[in-house]
Amino acid sequence: MSKKLETKAGLDFVTDWAYAPSPEDTKHIKLEKQYDLFIDGKFVKPNSKKYFDTVNPATEQKIAEVAEADEKDVDKAVKAARKAFGKWSKTSAKERGKYIYRIARLMQERAREFSIIETMDGGKPIRESRDIDVPLAANHFFYNAGWADKLEYAFPNRNPQPLGVAGQIIPWNFPLLMAAWKIAPALATGNTVVIKPAETTPLTALKLAEVIRDSGLPDGVVNIITGAGKTGAAIVNHPDVNKIAFTGSTDVGKLIQKAIAGTDKKLTLELGGKAANIIFEDAPLDQAVEGIINGIFFNQGHVCCAGSRLFVQEGVADIVIRKLKDRMESLIVGDPLDKNTDIGAINSKEQLGKIQEYIKIGKNEGAEFHQSSCAIPGKGYFCRPTLFLNASQSHRIVQEEIFGPVLTVQTFRTIEEVIEKANNIPYGLSAGIWTDKGSKIFNLSGKMRAGVVWANTYNKFDPTSPFGGYKESGFGREGGLHGLLPYVKL
Ligand code: NAI
Ligand code: MG
Repeated sequence: MSKKLETKAGLDFVTDWAYAPSPEDTKHIKLEKQYDLFIDGKFVKPNSKKYFDTVNPATEQKIAEVAEADEKDVDKAVKAARKAFGKWSKTSAKERGKYIYRIARLMQERAREFSIIETMDGGKPIRESRDIDVPLAANHFFYNAGWADKLEYAFPNRNPQPLGVAGQIIPWNFPLLMAAWKIAPALATGNTVVIKPAETTPLTALKLAEVIRDSGLPDGVVNIITGAGKTGAAIVNHPDVNKIAFTGSTDVGKLIQKAIAGTDKKLTLELGGKAANIIFEDAPLDQAVEGIINGIFFNQGHVCCAGSRLFVQEGVADIVIRKLKDRMESLIVGDPLDKNTDIGAINSKEQLGKIQEYIKIGKNEGAEFHQSSCAIPGKGYFCRPTLFLNASQSHRIVQEEIFGPVLTVQTFRTIEEVIEKANNIPYGLSAGIWTDKGSKIFNLSGKMRAGVVWANTYNKFDPTSPFGGYKESGFGREGGLHGLLPYVKL
């Protein structure tokens, strides 16, 4: 069995450096002590003069101070975006595309820097930042750059027009990648942007601000401001924003939906998930076990589409669980900057607390608790890979998003039973199916109330394929041609 997590995302290019950084290397990464707001093409001080710390969750050490934008700063950013919209929306489509290509290429050139900073600020393993997050983020810019001058083919005879100023709020689990998912389609369709990264992971978005400045993109087309929930709410409530795109928790998604009710702002929400990963008796079992591991432990389980509910068909349950436990023992939890690390640091102290709370809940609910026996570092926020066997459908650990390396395990006998259980949940973002039979895949994927269904693979992402949910997982799609739609008037 391969000892490494199978996490390559089927990319058509990877970064040109095949090694991971040593602690020495991280000293050469250019980080400021203090970061200001990127508004109208320049870094400017926040109105409040307030700054907050961003820490490295693997060491608990402060990395830098980041500006806290208040309503006045948000207003300044929106005004800059509005002013820039006048020219940008009239810039020829081909010209717009050129800038987006340039951003993509600059990201590739600085891939190493982006990867190391992403890992330091957020705790994800360097192998993932290097091979997935950063190249995929650049790919989203490349892909959308290609659409810029082909919009009339994307929406034939429908005269696609930009909406105006897009306010975008993103989470901490894929900081750079989510920035790319949001900014690239907005620019390709001729909108301007005010975007806010999450408060625990602002640094790669601020690096991206440097790339955007260096790309020569006209001032004010992209504004990147930092802060927490209050700053996010100020973007949502600003009267001169035409569209809100949000990725994050279902609770905040609902607040945003209420806040903009009755306005003519357009909205897309990409919220939580609790995906079923379903293993049939006829599945290639070793491959499926790798898929289970990748499904739940990729990015410490901080993945909205994580395969966090495992369904195993009864006849193979014992063997799958045994193999899964063995495989979990081989996972290395620790220093995210070490290229051999499989599971890095939990993103924040708060998130670790939330995961630990769910582990307590699971134990009290009576599911059978199992953790890998691996060592974890004494400092930093870490969690061992965890299973809850014999979980039942009504358990909170089965119904609620934990967003950590915690997998619930249920067994099933028939297809009807597993479809019912898989769908009986407030979320509907993704699902996985493992079987030898194409007909089963065909049958099941139509019946899953999930936006994305993977068959005999898991957590594969590509800029050409749309991503998004049903039910409490949100609405609207990102990626592919579908991802342009929320940014145009037809
Ligand atoms: P969150 O939803 O509070 O944060 C996401 C983003 O929204 C951040 O940029 C935050 O500053 C911003 N935000 C917070 N309150 C806001 C408001 N009232 N108006 C506008 N923007 C606001 O997520 P949090 O608290 O960091 O994580 C809690 C849980 O949410 C996680 O444990 C996980 O279950 C879920 N989550 C799901 C994500 C996903 O990709 N589906 C991403 C992040 C969190
Ligand atoms: Mg941080």
